[in-house]
Amino acid sequence: MQPHDLYTVSIHYDRRLYREDIRGSIAHAQMLAKQGIITDDDANAIRRGLLDIQQEIEAETFPWRPELEDIHMNVEARLKEKIGDVAGKLHTARSRNDQVATDMRLFAMKTCDEAIKHTTELQLALLHQARQHASTIMPGYTHLQRAQPVLLAHHLLAYFHMLQRDKQRFQQCRRAAAVLPLGSGALAGLPYPLDRQSVAVELGFDDISPNSMDAVADRDFLLEFHAAAAICMMHLSRLGEELVLWSSQEFAFITLAEQYATGSSIMPQKRNPDFAEIGRGKTGRVYGHLLALLTTLKGLPLTYNRDLQEDKEGFFDTVDTLLSTLQVFAGMIGTMTVNADRMYDAAQTGNMLATDLADYLVARGMPFREAHGVLRRASRYALENAKEVHQLTLEEYRRFSPLFDENVLKITLEGSVESRDLPGGSAPNRVGDALREAQKILETADDS
Ligand code: ARG
Repeated sequence: MQPHDLYTVSIHYDRRLYREDIRGSIAHAQMLAKQGIITDDDANAIRRGLLDIQQEIEAETFPWRPELEDIHMNVEARLKEKIGDVAGKLHTARSRNDQVATDMRLFAMKTCDEAIKHTTELQLALLHQARQHASTIMPGYTHLQRAQPVLLAHHLLAYFHMLQRDKQRFQQCRRAAAVLPLGSGALAGLPYPLDRQSVAVELGFDDISPNSMDAVADRDFLLEFHAAAAICMMHLSRLGEELVLWSSQEFAFITLAEQYATGSSIMPQKRNPDFAEIGRGKTGRVYGHLLALLTTLKGLPLTYNRDLQEDKEGFFDTVDTLLSTLQVFAGMIGTMTVNADRMYDAAQTGNMLATDLADYLVARGMPFREAHGVLRRASRYALENAKEVHQLTLEEYRRFSPLFDENVLKITLEGSVESRDLPGGSAPNRVGDALREAQKILETADDS
């Protein structure tokens, strides 16, 4: 075929819809027979022929023909070769416009289920690590500067909750996709007594589309998936960034398992966090596909326009990128080892107890702003004397405020963490509650 003829061909990527296309066609033919539009014998012949074709595709013996352009025409032409002219009855009361929209929706529904499953697996890996580290103290950061001590479990559970919101978005996408367009025809509806509801039930849709013109032109469900995937990838990318930092020699908080780190071809000592980096890097293309589809849709008059064929490649790429990244990250989190001593040592430095010392003065009647100033001065003094602010002697503390007494010497990392005893805080008992709560969320989740 010449470049000119190849230009409109989509079979090299839309063949991925073969299962959905065949399922939809079987349901359609059975409904046509039930409604007396074709005979039961015709419907059975069509069904057998289509199942045969499915087997051929799966055995990789199907003769794909690019000149037939897309999956719908390839399957239909092959059906004619197998069962003769009866094949022509399959397309009664149907258009490729409502057919392709149905295929994409079925594929999107299946994909949302997979995304929810893999998101849950990553949550389980995070929860597993969080349980192991329910009392591991580490520095918490703002501006990537050591800020206040937290529990590693608390940090990991933050990602658990991001993923929980991702899952809710995938559930919403699934609901958006589960509306059946079939029965809309090319655009105006169909002059046959179809039973659309029974096709919806047969194919697992929740509902039927309320407007035939909207049904063949609408790709909002794909946009919603792209958006949900983009947000989820952003979360994974942030997690990937933390793994890159934490596995560096500068942090040395974690060691990634052998299978998630790769050597350098020139520097024998290197263990690069390539999987985390690639996950971070792949986020860009997922954002790109969202923008591409928004742009494709923005100028389209109702109803179907061939531009809509461009909805597929970006979508499939996003599906593959998202699902593989979720799986890789679940494995990477589940197998990493944590260097708890190193985290604890890091938490000892950076004057991270300065806020606790200020709170100590507040408890003795000093306004917080004033206490903040006292601790700024004390921290500067500590720095000049090569100490941490929580390592000053009582005599040194008292140079900055007479409110300091010997109890100040009891301010520790453990005490700091324990004092964050509010719902949502990093006190060990609160984090214990949060771990149980997270487990409950996974057990009660409606993952379907
Ligand atoms: N390959 C087309 C697509 O993906 C199928 C629908 C074609 N419809 C048409 N009227 N030419 O959108």
